Amino acid sequence: MADASGLDALRSIVGHPHVLDDPEVTASYRTDWTARWVGTCRAVVRPADTSEVAAVVRWCSSNGVHIVPQGGNTGLVGGAVPSAGDVVLSTLRLSSIGEVDDRSGQVTAGAGATVAAVEAAARAAGWRYGVDFAARESATIGGSVATNAGGHHVVRHGMTRRQVIGLEVVLADGSVVSHLGGLVKDNTGYDLGALMCGSEGTLGVITSARLALVPDAGERAVALVGFDSVDAAVAAIGPLRRAIPELEALELMFADGIASVAEVIGASPPLGDVAVMLLVEVAGGHDPIAVLGDAVGRLDGVVAVAVADDATRRADLWRWRDAHTETISRVGTTPPHKLDVTLPLPRLARFIAEVRSLVATVAPEARLWLFGHAGDGNIHVNITGLAPDDESVVAAVLELVASMGGSISAEHGIGRAKRQWLHLNRSPAEIAAFRSIKRALDPTATFNPRVLLPEIEATSEGVERS
Ligand code: FAD
Ligand code: LAC
Ligand code: ZN
Repeated sequence: MADASGLDALRSIVGHPHVLDDPEVTASYRTDWTARWVGTCRAVVRPADTSEVAAVVRWCSSNGVHIVPQGGNTGLVGGAVPSAGDVVLSTLRLSSIGEVDDRSGQVTAGAGATVAAVEAAARAAGWRYGVDFAARESATIGGSVATNAGGHHVVRHGMTRRQVIGLEVVLADGSVVSHLGGLVKDNTGYDLGALMCGSEGTLGVITSARLALVPDAGERAVALVGFDSVDAAVAAIGPLRRAIPELEALELMFADGIASVAEVIGASPPLGDVAVMLLVEVAGGHDPIAVLGDAVGRLDGVVAVAVADDATRRADLWRWRDAHTETISRVGTTPPHKLDVTLPLPRLARFIAEVRSLVATVAPEARLWLFGHAGDGNIHVNITGLAPDDESVVAAVLELVASMGGSISAEHGIGRAKRQWLHLNRSPAEIAAFRSIKRALDPTATFNPRVLLPEIEATSEGVERS
């Protein structure tokens, strides 16, 4: 970018106060949530509406400037971190939320609206938003669609993709594709919105989303259930899913994670000295507390239970789960290496045992933290005490995951962090198809060129190889 004239051009589109180039002011946009990735950028640009987004995109693509779309910057794979010369396109001003349509149970939200704000709007109208996770107050609708975020309620409502009825997206040439009419059935060709879900800012800028809401299920109950072994906890997943049609969440935690949270929040572990726990939430149905009690009563290996039905005590139990990510990031002097994997449920217990022994062998000085969304076979594997650029344990764990039929990214995406391992889950033909899609929709390689797709190496024969 020709510096001064480039900034002037961008300022003429979004207004002077919304082009930030002072490194101190842009610092929080250039550093990811984990502080593992810190980038540089030419400017942060904060458009107010879709037409300003389109004008910024048009200017960047015709001037060879890369755009890194960014929402709440809570992503955990370095996908929203810029490199020198990039423009960070922040969607935070696109935060409007329309009226909830009570007939369809849908709402249109700007890309910069937070997940918590959409949930609040839904709740005020007697509905709920089916996606929830601990970063709800900062994570945006655009970011959560772009990462196809999962979270606590996937076991019942599915990932973000399942909530998306349609999107408005600005493409690389500045054209706007808008599909916000709310038609649940619409088989008129390719579903561009579905393609954007999980595209991690590589195909366009999402400016707005038409979202399906879920009925407010009514009464809720939560139980924290302690088991005498990992095998018993994992064996409980199937019976709980079968016994509780209104199962809203099924989360896994271990004693070390709970102890760490206990230290930070200054409370005693809720079940005392218990090695492994499931947090189970039931929403709706007839007498959820009785359903929960009955289902838990039939499980093997249960050693302790805490149950909550009122909102305050439910939130107290949830706090133990929600605080895990933040707490683990405070351990040690370097940011954790964060992996987020899914295993086929029949192999989950074996994976937990094998990953513990693998990390102990490959990096005896490191600490391993496991927790996650048990109902989906999704385990967050956090490793602390490694040098920031030490990827050897990461490679070993991801290879183990792939060898067991799992996914190297369950819900956080590939970003910068995992792109060199995409081949563990995706064949050369699939990666080639991904590249064709990228080239077709973003021929100028304007959007987020350093995430998701593996870097291309030039071979000695002049051939490109992933
Ligand atoms: P960003 O971090 O700003 O961006 C993420 C990616 O999306 C980047 O590649 C970016 O370029 C792209 N992007 C952002 N906005 C747009 C847009 N408008 N158009 C196109 N591309 C865009 N994730 C889960 O799935 N489940 C969890 O349970 C979960 N829990 C978390 C808990 C904590 C404490 C934290 C810090 C994070 C958690 N996350 C979780 C990860 C993160 O919150 C999600 O990935 C979230 O969806 C990111 O939203 P964001 O607005 O912060 O996106
Ligand atoms: C969670 C994030 C890390 O589940 O995905 O807390
Ligand atoms: Zn998660």
